Amino acid sequence: MIKFVDVSKTYPNGVKALRNINLEIYEGEFVAIIGLSGAGKSTLLRLINKLIESTGGEVFFENESVTKAKGKELINIRRQIGMIFQGFNIVKRMSVLSNVLSGRVAYNPTWKTILGLFPEKDKQIAYRALQRVDILEKVHNRASDLSGGQQQRVAIARALAQEPKLMLADEPVASLDPITTVQVMDYLKKINVEDGITTIANLHHVDLALKYATRIVGVRDGIIVYDVARSGLKREQFFKDVEKVYGRPIHDDELLGDE
Ligand SMILES: Nc1ncnc2c1ncn2[C@@H]1O[C@H](COP(=O)(O)OP(=O)(O)OP(=O)(O)O)[C@@H](O)[C@H]1O
Ligand SMILES: [Mg+2]
Repeated sequence: MIKFVDVSKTYPNGVKALRNINLEIYEGEFVAIIGLSGAGKSTLLRLINKLIESTGGEVFFENESVTKAKGKELINIRRQIGMIFQGFNIVKRMSVLSNVLSGRVAYNPTWKTILGLFPEKDKQIAYRALQRVDILEKVHNRASDLSGGQQQRVAIARALAQEPKLMLADEPVASLDPITTVQVMDYLKKINVEDGITTIANLHHVDLALKYATRIVGVRDGIIVYDVARSGLKREQFFKDVEKVYGRPIHDDELLGDE
């Protein structure tokens, strides 16, 4: 589904965030990306939907070059890729429904979406997406009235309303408490398994990677230093491996501690 061929990213200030990345991600996978702060995880994720441009190599999404895509091609690629962030990135003064409908923007003419004119079909898709994350009862609330975990579920619903094939999640639970974290991760996993949406999540808590991912990729200083399937991976072995990815022992705050 995704292929990185010799991809590098050097930011204008000279920071080499990624160096010659070669990586393939297959349909249906739930990939956790782990690594220290500054390792290049967000950069890796953002190259997939061209939120940032690579400075070398090429990224492919379903055999189409993301790197070369422009205009309509890029819009078409992006609409197949949902994204959620640590900070939820929903518009707090708008209703939950309006936020989720914004996931339908790429399917409608701009003038209509500016006026908030969405077809009935889109509203049904939005309701279904909210139902998927069990938050339909908040559809007419202002987003600002929701808790952090609920806001992240709205963000997931918005991404789902896009009817994506791929979900990118950049530290999706880093702002949440442990209980809410597990709820949100459970929804991401359910969507991955039941809807077959390939998922790539940058995770700060390494034990979440072990609990939810089918594959774990470790990034260090812009290089992929670890890439293993979850099945057959022993817990103790994994924690030893993570120390190598990090180059130091794991800190307590890097574990959620949930079994
Ligand atoms: N817009 C930017 N301009 C310049 N340097 C940047 C920019 N974004 C990221 N960097 C640098 O690139 C490197 C990789 O950053 P990136 O955000 O990809 O790391 P990360 O693994 O996501 O870290 P974190 O866990 O803190 O989110 C870091 O050294 C960072 O400072
Ligand atoms: Mg990051």
